[in-house]
Amino acid sequence: MAVSMKKLHAAAEAVRRVCGPADVAVVLGSGLGGYEEALIGPREIGFDEIPGFPKSTVAGHAGKMIVGTIRDKRVLIMSGRFHHYEGHSLDKVTMPIRVMALLGVRTLILTNAAGGVNTDFHPGELMLITDYINLTGRNPLRGPNLDVFGPRFPDMTRAYDPQLREVALERAQRHGITLRQGVYAWWNGPSYETPAEIRMVRTLGGDAVGMSTVPETIVARHCGMRVLGISTITNMAAGVLDTPVNHEEVLAMGAKVRDDFHVLLSSIIDHLSEEVSEPI
Ligand code: HPA
Repeated sequence: MAVSMKKLHAAAEAVRRVCGPADVAVVLGSGLGGYEEALIGPREIGFDEIPGFPKSTVAGHAGKMIVGTIRDKRVLIMSGRFHHYEGHSLDKVTMPIRVMALLGVRTLILTNAAGGVNTDFHPGELMLITDYINLTGRNPLRGPNLDVFGPRFPDMTRAYDPQLREVALERAQRHGITLRQGVYAWWNGPSYETPAEIRMVRTLGGDAVGMSTVPETIVARHCGMRVLGISTITNMAAGVLDTPVNHEEVLAMGAKVRDDFHVLLSSIIDHLSEEVSEPI
């Protein structure tokens, strides 16, 4: 069942009452928390205080929204996110994105931890997402269309905004941060992939694999937001190396690249233009 407009408005109102509106939102992936410290005048609300929000169940996901200022922009940081593998419906997984839209957010930066499928990549590198492959066959827009947000059949030709990608590449270069580019493949999880599945992903054109981001991208594009996606390659995907994949390694590598990541995020936010690319 789609989350009703009434529930979305109630959730947005709860956030607005405590935190106020926002222009830009950042969703922090596994191991990338702490960026909220960049906010001036932060005001936060826990997921458990937002009506209709599910509870995050994953270690490394704190579960709150914090709004403050970075340079001249009102930025909402979502620390912790909901995953389909936790048992949440895709409506719930993407509810925060709808709430952000109601709070005025027009630019969304999605970050995540991902396994490197492209054998040119190395753990600890960042990857700018150029496009996605949805391997789950699931779609968060299934069900009645919420016409106030967007059309029944939204275009995904430029899911990740070309102009924002330019800004990210230019900023990374300016700070001497390696920013790879590639296609993110959404795998349902929670089990990691098999080596055969990773070979399949590579054959299909995927460069990195992870368990989030795509449903949020789809809903954000449906809302007409421009989206930027950045992955941390926390590990090489199954079978690339002769070692098993584990969540502790993912969190540890996320923490290791956190400083670079935070520098890049602030620099990107500082250089965002006001113009919104073509509406959907
Ligand atoms: N596979 C899927 N999701 C992930 C991985 C991986 O190897 N690393 C971090 N998130």
